Amino acid sequence: LSGYLAAVANQGSTAAVSLAPVASAQRPLTILYGSQTGNARGLAQQLASEAGAQGFTVNLVSMADYKPKQLKEEHQILLLISTHGEGDPPDDAMILHKFLHSSRAPKLEKLRFSVLALGDSSYDDFCQTGREFDQRLAELGARRIADRIDCDVDYEHTAKAWQEEVLSKAEKGGSDAGQVVPITGTGAVSAFNKGNPFAAVLLASQKITGRNSNKDTRHVELDLADSGLSYQPGDALGVWMHNDAELVDAILTGTGLDGTQPVAGSTLRQALIEQYELTLLHPALVQGWAELADSDALRAIAKDGATVRPFLKTHQLIDLVHRYPAKPDADALIGLLRKLTPRLYSIASSQAEVEEEVHLTVGLVSDERDGQARLGAVSGAFARRLDEGAEVKVFVEPNDNFRLPSDDNTPVIMIGPGTGIAPFRGFMQERDARGAQGDNWLFFGDQTFTDDFLYQLEWQGYVKSGLLTRIDLAFSRDQAEKIYVQDRLRQQGAELYAWLQRGAHVYVCGDISRMASDVHEALIQVVVSHGKQSREDAEDYVEQLRADKRYQRDVY
Ligand code: 2AM
Repeated sequence: LSGYLAAVANQGSTAAVSLAPVASAQRPLTILYGSQTGNARGLAQQLASEAGAQGFTVNLVSMADYKPKQLKEEHQILLLISTHGEGDPPDDAMILHKFLHSSRAPKLEKLRFSVLALGDSSYDDFCQTGREFDQRLAELGARRIADRIDCDVDYEHTAKAWQEEVLSKAEKGGSDAGQVVPITGTGAVSAFNKGNPFAAVLLASQKITGRNSNKDTRHVELDLADSGLSYQPGDALGVWMHNDAELVDAILTGTGLDGTQPVAGSTLRQALIEQYELTLLHPALVQGWAELADSDALRAIAKDGATVRPFLKTHQLIDLVHRYPAKPDADALIGLLRKLTPRLYSIASSQAEVEEEVHLTVGLVSDERDGQARLGAVSGAFARRLDEGAEVKVFVEPNDNFRLPSDDNTPVIMIGPGTGIAPFRGFMQERDARGAQGDNWLFFGDQTFTDDFLYQLEWQGYVKSGLLTRIDLAFSRDQAEKIYVQDRLRQQGAELYAWLQRGAHVYVCGDISRMASDVHEALIQVVVSHGKQSREDAEDYVEQLRADKRYQRDVY
């Protein structure tokens, strides 16, 4: 009897059913999600509750908790899967993804499935992971319940259409009332969530990088009192922020649009402030703008991924307005814009220490163009616009894939350069409050010791108190040659390997574009050198750490 059937049977359906008939007649519907930022998980939960209401027997499970061997037992699976970084699976999907693409993957002729792929068209390899799951399951003999659907950042509408289609085509099976068996996915129980955020009061926003730093990093404190919101170290805080009114006015002036004209129950100005994404570009907007501006130069940029993607990273809508002048009407402008989305920040505190507060470490996204600052929508507000006492709309986004060990005696290795330090401040507050006896080792890196050692006094305090067993620092610009956290990992390889051998958990937080893969490579090299293992065995060793949830990442 496979695990999930046991779970279904054990849910205590009132009908007395023997186990075997449940297996054959009931045809449970397995809903599998792989999610980095919570969107796929949220959609999977919605789908599960709708399916349950329609009478399906539902098994809702994170790919991180799914035993790949169970695939052979399945009859119908709905997969909701996002793509991370440059076309990679989210961390919780890596093991299943790898298994499916390996020679161990079984024939799946009796399986029916459908894939909802989530992605962002601003990145290369849009919805790549969803495409790979879809294609590979078909190669293994599984048949589609419905065709794969790819969703962009504005996914709600598309996802709903897919949900309706798959539920109308999936097999309901036996006559027992539907039930949902949630294996994972513990959300904070509060009236407040992504769609209905809590107005938290800003208690502090303090610059913690030095005067000569190249960066402006803020320590932000928000008040969650009376929200019912709670979080665990490792979770993220979602922050909704209005656009800067000055930016909106500059866009209105540049396009010659009248901000007082009505659009869908609001004025144009108000809609641009509250509802639309203005600081991040996407390919369709650049394409559409090229037509509005009738600009061959912009058409040439928009025409293919290789030219448009670097352009997206270095421009905002206001740059298009200035550099490729156009006179769109309000509908044409709004028709090109995406809805505003919240930004997620790794939480930098533990409630065991700060109770009803939540702390963040916010790096200001800033650039200068045409002599003017271009700031990130949320980080710019924290750094420049919001005073203490201002209200900020927030919600908690749980992250079960970044959790301290349940056993307080387990050693912990934390690798968090730059703002990647954030969750480890929460981890240490938590372990301190719990009186956890396990060893703690922090690797931190940034540009300079003097200006970029985030939370320096706190770490030094923890070293002194003995909570922090070891700290290794990599200040990349304090000497002629670059030194990064992965160099420190290699230098401390013998000790690091010894910690791994005695069961340490490894956590990596921060930059996905280079750091995360360089650190991954360093871990493999440490196992090769100090575990005296072949390259292949060392890779398996690190994959096993991941499978055992002893290697967890929060990279972005
Ligand atoms: P650099 O900017 O001096 O090259 C936090 O931003 C720190 O991460 C900085 O010290 C930065 O160094 C460093 N960094 C840059 N690239 C990195 C990489 N591939 N791996 C690890 N750290 C890196």
